[in-house]
Order: sequence, then C-alpha cells, then structure tokens
Amino acid sequence: MTDKSMEFPNLTHTWAKTDRYLERKLIPRDPVLEHALDANDAAGLPHYDVTAAQGKLLQLLIRMSGAKRVLEIGTLGGVSTIWMARGLPEDGRLITLELEPLHARIARENLDRAGIGRELVDIRTGDAARQLALLEREKQEPFDFIFIDADKPNNPVYLKWALRLSKPGTVIVGDNVVREGAVIEESSADPRVRGVRRFFDLLAEEPRIDATAIQTVGVKGYDGFMLGIVRE
Ligand code: DHB
Ligand code: MG
Repeated sequence: MTDKSMEFPNLTHTWAKTDRYLERKLIPRDPVLEHALDANDAAGLPHYDVTAAQGKLLQLLIRMSGAKRVLEIGTLGGVSTIWMARGLPEDGRLITLELEPLHARIARENLDRAGIGRELVDIRTGDAARQLALLEREKQEPFDFIFIDADKPNNPVYLKWALRLSKPGTVIVGDNVVREGAVIEESSADPRVRGVRRFFDLLAEEPRIDATAIQTVGVKGYDGFMLGIVRE
C-alpha cells in the first residue's frame, strides 16, 4: 500500500464507485463498447482506454465545437475512437494513428462492430511522427479537433505536429498529463513524466495555443487532461 492510500484508505474506491454512479445516471450501458473492452483485454492490450465518462467528454467536446475533422494520435483498441466518431456528423472524418499492427487490427474490428466504417474512420498504422509528416505531405485539410493519447515521451513531438495540422479554433486535447501528480517532479526519471513536463514547457512558451489542464479522478485513478484552442 502506498503512503497516499494509507492517508486516504477509501479514496480510490470512492472515485471508482462515483464513476459508476455517474455512468448509471448519464451514460447508458453500451454492449458494443463493453465488447470492445473485452476484445482488447483478450488480445492483451494494456488497460489505457478512456473511461465511459471521459469518452463521453471527448464526444461532447466534438459536438460542442462542431468539429468535423478529427485526428487521434494513439488508437489502442479504438475505444476513444468509437466515442469520438459517434460525435461526428455523417460527413465527418476521423484519422487515427496507431503504432502496433495488432492494436490497429483489433480497433478496426471494434469499429466495424460499432457500425463505423472506413469512410468515417481511417486507421493508419505505423510510427505516429512519420504518419503525421505524411498527413502534411498529403496536404490534408487542417483538423478541427486533435486528441493526443499515445506514447507520452513523444508528447512534445505530437504537440508540434498537432499545431502544424491545425487552424485557428482547432481544439487540442491531451490525455494523462497529471500522472498521479508525478508531473510536478522536476527530476523524475520516468520518461513518460519527462515527456509530459516537456509538453507543458512547450505549451507555456507557445503563443499559438491557449490552454488549461484539469486534474481528474475516477476508475482509472488520478490523472488529468490538457484542453487547448489554437488562437486566431
Ligand atoms: C498510460 C497511457 C495512457 O494513455 C493512459 O490513459 C494511462 C496510462 C501509460 O502509458 O502509463
Ligand atoms: Mg490515455
């Protein structure tokens, strides 16, 4: 048991129970997403998926901002992808980047089962930095909404690309930016924490984006989101 949980013995339990309560009230159970989580688990994918409450937040942000073109960096098994795709209009488009071919294959199956076709969601497999460069070379129209949720050491690289593929008004969201508060550890040896800290350094000095970060608790523990908008 960590020092933290000795201080607050029931806290993480309360966070999880409260997430379940909020889900029961606000987010109907969804067999397609439950099946996707089971399929991811069976294939040995890590349990890094967004929670239902978080997935719904991403979907609401897409609907609230009227986003039509979405870029996701880090597909994993496609749970966040399904949440976001369901927030898009019929003529929307979501491109999602995934390093691992196995993850991409499972994600495609999960999306197919959700009735989300290739015309709406395009999964691109390979190194995300290379895929991002390819998007630029293809002269893809700027994205309206970008979700950064891949390998954390590369967060600064992904933020730079996100800005290159944006336009004024583009919403950029980053997952896992608090990491149980480890983000404040200046001399952390954890490459994920270091990546997130450099991500914040960039945000702090980058005039093109106006951002905040929100700490979150829930079934996934204690973490946080960065939310930003590209300036006019
Ligand atoms: C990690 C990555 C994630 O995207 C997440 O949501 C939780 C944890 C990780 O690499 O530790
Ligand atoms: Mg994440």
